[in-house]
Amino acid sequence: MKEQVLEMLVKGYPDFVSGEAICRSLGVSRTAVWKHIHALRGAGYDIEAVPHAGYRLVNIPDRLYPAEITRGLQTAFLGRSVYHYDQVESTNRTARELAARGVPDGTLVVAEEQTGGRGRMGRGWFSPHGRGIWCSVILHPAVNPMDAPPLTMLAAVAVARALRRTAGVEAGIKWPNDLLVGEKKICGILTELSAEMERINYLIIGMGINVNIDRHEFPPELREIATSVQIERGRRVSRVHLLQNLLAELEYWYRIWEKEGFAPVLACWKELNVTLHRPVRVFTQRETWEGWAEDVDADGSLVLRLPGGEYKRVVSGEVSL
Ligand code: BTN
Repeated sequence: MKEQVLEMLVKGYPDFVSGEAICRSLGVSRTAVWKHIHALRGAGYDIEAVPHAGYRLVNIPDRLYPAEITRGLQTAFLGRSVYHYDQVESTNRTARELAARGVPDGTLVVAEEQTGGRGRMGRGWFSPHGRGIWCSVILHPAVNPMDAPPLTMLAAVAVARALRRTAGVEAGIKWPNDLLVGEKKICGILTELSAEMERINYLIIGMGINVNIDRHEFPPELREIATSVQIERGRRVSRVHLLQNLLAELEYWYRIWEKEGFAPVLACWKELNVTLHRPVRVFTQRETWEGWAEDVDADGSLVLRLPGGEYKRVVSGEVSL
């Protein structure tokens, strides 16, 4: 009901909407309307109230509220169900709990802040309040678990394109799914899978995009290796707008992957990549390899040409350029 009051104010903007009109349209009392206005103000909406004129929306808070994300969202299923939190330990963890309980395909979990954001290789992820997009999407792809790894590269394509289109940030992809501007990381992706032998229960794609973080706000150890949209553009950008575009890109590429397989996604990944055709060092769980990044094969594995001339296929690991 609070959301319906908000949508009436948004539609009426920049004019006043009378309390009477809200009561009539929603079939509630004046007191109930007042309570909803009070709740909206508590959530950060700036609403002017003038006797005989009604209510007028003055300002929308910089929050990733479900109502803000879904208003104008251009997707059919991704982000149509949104769980928003002010603070969680990790959106991936919350997404896992929700997925285990059963939520619709494409559910989005988003938080203003993570207290224990998780990164790849057991690392953490710096996730300060209101400064980034810390989110996880829950998907139920109808494929064998063996065919899931390309989805993490698909997510990197979606983020890179959203960053380019919405924020004008020319991010490139470092294999398999880190987004860099120059040498610095602007987004990381952590995919987690729950599966049986031949069937995926659910897949969680967790994405962390550094949006409105100033250089001095990064901890010293990250200052030289991390960047943000604000640093690259010299201004703050709308997290809601960026997230809406990301969801649209993600759904677009996911549909292509479902219909046509990984090849078209990989072609776009290659256009956006900054890893291939250069010398690299690759860290896997147990070994480190140095060589020439020759190609990425049809499954998304990195093909390395070692100094002796032989080829090595790396399925998962971390590349240092
Ligand atoms: C990496 O190390 O590059 C992956 C970082 C992934 C961070 C995101 S933030 C939202 C989601 N929740 C988490 O705990 N991690 C991912």
